[in-house]
Amino acid sequence: MIVAVASQKGGTGKTTTSISLAAGIARSGKKTLLVDTDSQANSSKVLLANYPKIPVTETIHATILERKALPIHKTSVPNLDIVPSHILLSNTDVELTTAKDHREARLKIELDKVKQNYEHVFIDCPPALSWLTVNAFTAADQALIVVSPGYFELDSLVQISKSIAEVNELFNPNLKLLGFLFTMSDTTINTQTSLQLLRQAYTGKVIETIIPRNTDIRDAHMNRQDIFAFNRNAKSAYAYLKLIHELFPV
Ligand SMILES: Nc1ncnc2c1ncn2[C@@H]1O[C@H](COP(=O)(O)OP(=O)(O)OP(=O)(O)O)[C@@H](O)[C@H]1O
Ligand SMILES: [Mg+2]
Repeated sequence: MIVAVASQKGGTGKTTTSISLAAGIARSGKKTLLVDTDSQANSSKVLLANYPKIPVTETIHATILERKALPIHKTSVPNLDIVPSHILLSNTDVELTTAKDHREARLKIELDKVKQNYEHVFIDCPPALSWLTVNAFTAADQALIVVSPGYFELDSLVQISKSIAEVNELFNPNLKLLGFLFTMSDTTINTQTSLQLLRQAYTGKVIETIIPRNTDIRDAHMNRQDIFAFNRNAKSAYAYLKLIHELFPV
């Protein structure tokens, strides 16, 4: 199953969720691939110790812009591979806008050739409804939309829901909404109101597991580790394990 982890808003927890789901599943013994499509390359930097030495030709840039095979790298997490991203991907939107051949399907065409090697594939998307996100939605079976508390965060869901519908119509009729994942939750009134509004607006589509705000996540990233390697007893580690059981029951 290929899951695109997305949100139009920045900083909602997409990368954290991609790393935690991919690492948690891989650590349970299942071959997993994480595709980083964000030019910030945050998940690549956490999971690849030698990231600064990786040339642009060995990143997803080669697939999206030169239509080469996906460059797959092993991570330090057992059973977890990654296709890293690159800062030069930030120009992609302009280049793809004028491209004529398969600009929406460049990731899909190459991912389809390797997906049988993996039980799970996660795509970490950039915080924009760009051609890169369209590539992720075209390649994916399901979209997991990550929502953090706040008015602007909730507001952005209308737009991303429209994008899923558009991709459904134009490029990928099989894309389904896996659900809205509420992250960075705490006990403040603002957070609890956001969650309530989310559940009212998208009844039945909000994932039951809630990811708490937890500083261990930031510390794990600072140490370039996934949460399970950093502190498997962290509140957020338990929450992400619960999420794995909810979304992908065995
Ligand atoms: N549950 C959490 N508790 C506390 N901090 C968190 C949590 N999840 C993520 N963070 C921190 O919040 C910041 C944003 O998270 P993350 O990078 O996962 O978001 P993103 O949606 O991928 O951002 P971008 O849109 O820039 O790609 C990071 O510093 C991360 O370490
Ligand atoms: Mg990110």
